[in-house]
Amino acid sequence: MNILIVGNGGREHAFTWKIKQSTHCKNLYVAPGNAGTASIAENVSIAVDDFEALGKFSLEKKIDLILVGPEVPLVKGIRNYFESNSDLKSILMVGPDKTGAQLEGSKDFSKQFMLRHQIPTAKAETFTANRLQQSLAYIDGCKTPIVLKADGLAAGKGVVISESHEEAKAEIQSMLRDKKFGEASAKVLIEEFLKGIELSVFVLTDGNDYVILPEAKDYKRIGNQDTGLNTGGMGSVSPVPFAGKEFLSKVEERIIKPTIAGLKKENIHYKGFIFIGLMNVGGEPFVIEYNARMGDPETQSVMSRIQSDFVELLVACAKGELKKTSVKIDPDFALSIVMVAGGYPGEYEKGKTINGLTQSTKATVFHAGTKINGKEVVTDGGRVLAVTGKGKTLTEAREQAYEQVAKITWDGVYFRKDIGLDLLNY
Ligand code: AMP
Ligand code: GLY
Repeated sequence: MNILIVGNGGREHAFTWKIKQSTHCKNLYVAPGNAGTASIAENVSIAVDDFEALGKFSLEKKIDLILVGPEVPLVKGIRNYFESNSDLKSILMVGPDKTGAQLEGSKDFSKQFMLRHQIPTAKAETFTANRLQQSLAYIDGCKTPIVLKADGLAAGKGVVISESHEEAKAEIQSMLRDKKFGEASAKVLIEEFLKGIELSVFVLTDGNDYVILPEAKDYKRIGNQDTGLNTGGMGSVSPVPFAGKEFLSKVEERIIKPTIAGLKKENIHYKGFIFIGLMNVGGEPFVIEYNARMGDPETQSVMSRIQSDFVELLVACAKGELKKTSVKIDPDFALSIVMVAGGYPGEYEKGKTINGLTQSTKATVFHAGTKINGKEVVTDGGRVLAVTGKGKTLTEAREQAYEQVAKITWDGVYFRKDIGLDLLNY
């Protein structure tokens, strides 16, 4: 098959790496890709939301299957564009349509969806600018910490957790009245704070059936021991030792099944990944958020544990034939460490030469913000690489990953030293 992956992050390099291993894969393209995807597939210089150019390219290269990585093209309706064009509609695609992607694109939509289908989640109220006064009064009645969520996509910055009522009130005024996140904060949810341990569960669904992929834990803060600013993710571990069989079966019964049934009932023909961000509150799962895609850097660990032919899974999803499939998972641990540019998630420089990439070890180096500059690979983003180690034990996976990380350098490189440490005692 000819396959096109849309996106340019570490997640997309991990997809490319996994798809490349399939005997069904003939020509593999990534739009726009990075230096890592360029080394195993062909990069195409098309933006993820340039649907017209993606459509033209797909016809020209006789693309059979498209895998959409990031949320932006999904929320903007890449599936709707392809489905509404008679030449493009027969191309298989993994990724929900615009309505399905609202599970991620609108936190109000997803909250209402969970309420309609009795899916356990934090209590919340939604406010718009014309109810600013009511929102302030509502905050007065909340226990701290108080969680504020901009309704729309805000590049991962739309969730603010305030330790005091004053801080929460200032924040909601800046979101609703001063449009801090533009249209994305035209609506804001004030949400109850859930205290527990977080993890992510991934499902691939064709709208009727589903397969559950390996779960993962993400490390969101920039600093060791979960300190400092939020990032896109600084590391991941799979499996998650505190997510035992009993907990995961609660997730399936109380969350996954009603989610798929709810989509079906609402006539949302969802074909793609659902990333369920969960809080384990004293052994009970609650949904923090849905995403309409896989996570980054969770995908790097998850792909490293999937033993089944990934293209077969994707095709079954796109054709609505997941019922006939199952997924084989490697019981070993995978641990990914994200290496970032100095200054990230604040301002950082690009164009730094990356050294040590050619060292061959057992760990896998996935690229995110990289590009080729002449003969060199240089940094081209905040999150630059994710290095994934594998092992029979978490310690082994950790050692393998950190051993490789130690060999890679560039001016200003930073990474967390404690990925997986918190999980060693479970
Ligand atoms: P998001 O940007 O949606 O991934 O959310 C950022 C982070 O905010 C999540 O990963 C959680 O750590 C935290 N968070 C979101 N909602 C809640 C909540 N209701 N209670 C506690 N923490 C939350
Ligand atoms: N690592 C979190 C995300 O992809 O949203």
